[in-house]
Amino acid sequence: MKIAFGCDHAGIEIKEKLIDFIKSLGHDVLDFGTNSSQSCDYPDFALKVAQSVVSKAADKGILICGTGIGMSIAANKVKGIRAAVCWNKETAQLISQHNNANIMCAGARFASVDDICSWIKIFLETEFEQRHLKRIDKIKNIEQQY
Ligand code: RB5
Repeated sequence: MKIAFGCDHAGIEIKEKLIDFIKSLGHDVLDFGTNSSQSCDYPDFALKVAQSVVSKAADKGILICGTGIGMSIAANKVKGIRAAVCWNKETAQLISQHNNANIMCAGARFASVDDICSWIKIFLETEFEQRHLKRIDKIKNIEQQY
């Protein structure tokens, strides 16, 4: 798959390890930055990754900030994006199985790089369960109405 990656300064220290790990799983990575430890604004990177996913340039996205929360809030403003924060292996699985998340978000200040790698692998390798489709369609309806 093609995986869009973005982080802010909170994720810069683990960025290369995460990208190398994603590549080691056999995926191509589209790197949308950031590229330095200088303070920056997470919505800028969330937008680039989200656009890459909705345009189908990427199949899925990974966004890392301090908590994962700011990235998810920003990415979810883009139509067609289901960005979800995960914080353990179970939630990494459920955001794919139940929510059909197309972007995984995680918090670099609250998890180890090894943990986040394991969540990324689970997120990328877990299939959506079709029995949840009705709920995903209802999310799309909300998006169209408001
Ligand atoms: C940056 O200090 C921090 O606010 C950001 O990385 C993120 O955690 C926001 O949700």
